[in-house]
Amino acid sequence: MKQGYRKGIIHSNIQIATNIYEIKLSPCHPESDSISLTMEESGFQGKPGQFYMLRGWELDPLLPRPISICDISDGIITFLYEVRGRGTHIISKLKKGDTLELLGPLGNGFDLNIEDKIAIVSGGIGVAPLIYLMKGFKGDMDFYCGFRNEAYYLDEIREHVDNTHISTEDGSVGHRGFVTDLFLPKRYDMVLTCGPIPMMNRVVEMCKDKNVPVYVSMESRMACGIGTCLGCTIETTSGMKRVCKEGPVFSGEEVKFND
Ligand SMILES: Cc1cc2nc3c(=O)[nH]c(=O)nc-3n(C[C@H](O)[C@H](O)[C@H](O)COP(=O)(O)OP(=O)(O)OC[C@H]3O[C@@H](n4cnc5c(N)ncnc54)[C@H](O)[C@@H]3O)c2cc1C
Ligand code: FES
Repeated sequence: MKQGYRKGIIHSNIQIATNIYEIKLSPCHPESDSISLTMEESGFQGKPGQFYMLRGWELDPLLPRPISICDISDGIITFLYEVRGRGTHIISKLKKGDTLELLGPLGNGFDLNIEDKIAIVSGGIGVAPLIYLMKGFKGDMDFYCGFRNEAYYLDEIREHVDNTHISTEDGSVGHRGFVTDLFLPKRYDMVLTCGPIPMMNRVVEMCKDKNVPVYVSMESRMACGIGTCLGCTIETTSGMKRVCKEGPVFSGEEVKFND
């Protein structure tokens, strides 16, 4: 096992929509991991917007994969992930009782000391880190979620948020079209968003127009996840910044979107 990584044991790994999976893990018991940690020390931690590097294989692929915290409850961590390529495909085949290697929590996360009325805007699997944010937020919140053709996690969202606005591009659930068709920034004191780059770019433009502060959770290909390889940098108004270290959450005004 690589330095800093720890083992998690899989409680469940279920498909919840086409190519979308939810995996739940608890820390491997210290005895079974031969590392002398108390249970408290070995519990998963992290705040909304932070992520873990996950590795469910030995050598190939070479690099672990970054996945955001979707929830942590009673020591069990939940990740929601989309199968995109080889790494996520391997993870999707793991079964209850199998183990994964994890490094985290990593990155800065969202600032939850917000008392104003906020909007959360998600696109597709970008909903994952926003679920954990939603659960920890006590203030006034509206949730806008857009999907391509299949919506998921709606029950969890509706359980915590009074005003949910759903869109699908094929019209199968909610508004037919983009989530940005529904979203009115001027109603809010702050906006938090995660999803495809063109969607976040549009949300930032809409917020800038109305002078509403907006925070985005950025994605980038990652290698180390801890700020040393510089492989994940993005362009910002104050130079290149590392998504894994200064991010993944950035002020929308500072990100230079190159889509
Ligand atoms: C901070 C952070 C948090 C993330 N959280 C989640 C999450 O909660 N759930 C989730 O499903 N995904 C999340 N991702 C994306 C996830 O890391 C990638 O989908 C995953 O690494 C793909 O690995 P793979 O081996 O399956 O695909 P690969 O074989 O590596 O790639 C398959 C395809 O996806 C593209 N791709 C892969 N990784 C990225 C990326 N980071 N950005 C843009 N395109 C990419 C590749 O260009 C390629 O076209 C997150 C990414 C970051 C940086
Ligand atoms: S992944 Fe290495 S610096 Fe960010």
